[in-house]
Amino acid sequence: MWTTDFAHRTVLVTGASGGIGGAVVRLLTGCGADVIASGSSPERLAPIVAETGARPLAFDLTSESAVRDALHEIPLWGVVNCAGFGGEIAPPSDADLAVFDRAIDVNTRGALLVTKYASRRMIAGGRGGAIVNVSSQAALVGLAGHLSYAASKAALDSITRVSALELGPHGIRVNSVNPTVVMTPMSASYWGREEIRQPFLDQMPLGRYATEEEVAGPIVFLLSDAAAMISGVCLPIDGGYTIR
Ligand SMILES: NC(=O)c1ccc[n+]([C@@H]2O[C@H](COP(=O)([O-])OP(=O)(O)OC[C@H]3O[C@@H](n4cnc5c(N)ncnc54)[C@H](OP(=O)(O)O)[C@@H]3O)[C@@H](O)[C@H]2O)c1
Repeated sequence: MWTTDFAHRTVLVTGASGGIGGAVVRLLTGCGADVIASGSSPERLAPIVAETGARPLAFDLTSESAVRDALHEIPLWGVVNCAGFGGEIAPPSDADLAVFDRAIDVNTRGALLVTKYASRRMIAGGRGGAIVNVSSQAALVGLAGHLSYAASKAALDSITRVSALELGPHGIRVNSVNPTVVMTPMSASYWGREEIRQPFLDQMPLGRYATEEEVAGPIVFLLSDAAAMISGVCLPIDGGYTIR
C-alpha cells in the first residue's frame, strides 16, 4: 500500500459526520489510525462511528471554550480540519453579512481554534505530527457567487502557511487541500443544477466532479510519512480546473 502505517497515531477528524470527513475516517481507520471522529452532535456522528469504530467527540467548533474543553486532555498526533459551511450564492452587492460571518466562524475561526488547542497537545506529545486543512478550489480562483465561502477558505490557506512556519520546528507539518466540487449535501443544491454543472465541467481538463474518496486519498497522503518533506502547500484536487 502506498500510504504509511498510522498505528499508534491518534488523528482528530472534524466534519466526520459529513461526506468528505466520513471518507477520511474510513480511509484512516483502514490504515490503522486511532481516529477521533468529530462533529457537532453525537447523533450525527453515530453512523460513521458504528461503521468504522472511530471514537466520537462532539463539540461546536465555533465556541472557543467547547474546543478547548474537548481537546485539552487528548493526546493527538494529527488533525484533519474538515468541518465546513457552504455559505450562499450571491454577488458582492447582495452579500448577506450574517452568512459571511458564519463562513468565517466555521471555516476559518473553527479551524484556527482546533489548530490552536490540538497543536498544544501535539507539541506536548513530542512526536511531531501533521495537520491537513480542507480548503477549496474557491480559494485559488474567482468562482462567481462564492464571495463569503472563498474568503473564508483563502484565509484558511493563510493559516496553513503561517502554521507550517511556526509548527515546523516541532516536526509538525501543515498543508491544505483545495478540492473541486464533490456531490455532498453542501454542494448539491447549486452544483447539481445542469445549467451550472455543464459549463463548469467544460472548463475542467478531467471534466467531472470529484468523489469523496478522491479527496480523502490526498488528505491521508499528506498526513502520512510518504509526505514527510511536504509542508505549507495548498494542493488542488480539481481535475486541473485551477490551471487556467
Ligand atoms: N462538497 C464540496 O463540493 C466541497 C468542495 C471543496 C471543499 N469542500 C470542503 O470540504 C469540507 C467537507 O465538506 P462536505 O461536503 O463533506 O460537507 P458536509 O457533508 O456538509 O459536512 C459538513 C461537516 O461540518 C460539520 N460542521 C459544520 N458546522 C459545524 C460546527 N459549528 N461545529 C462542528 N461541526 C460542524 C458538520 O457537522 P454536523 O453533521 O454535526 O452538522 C459536518 O460533519 C468542508 O470544509 C468544505 O468546505 C467541500
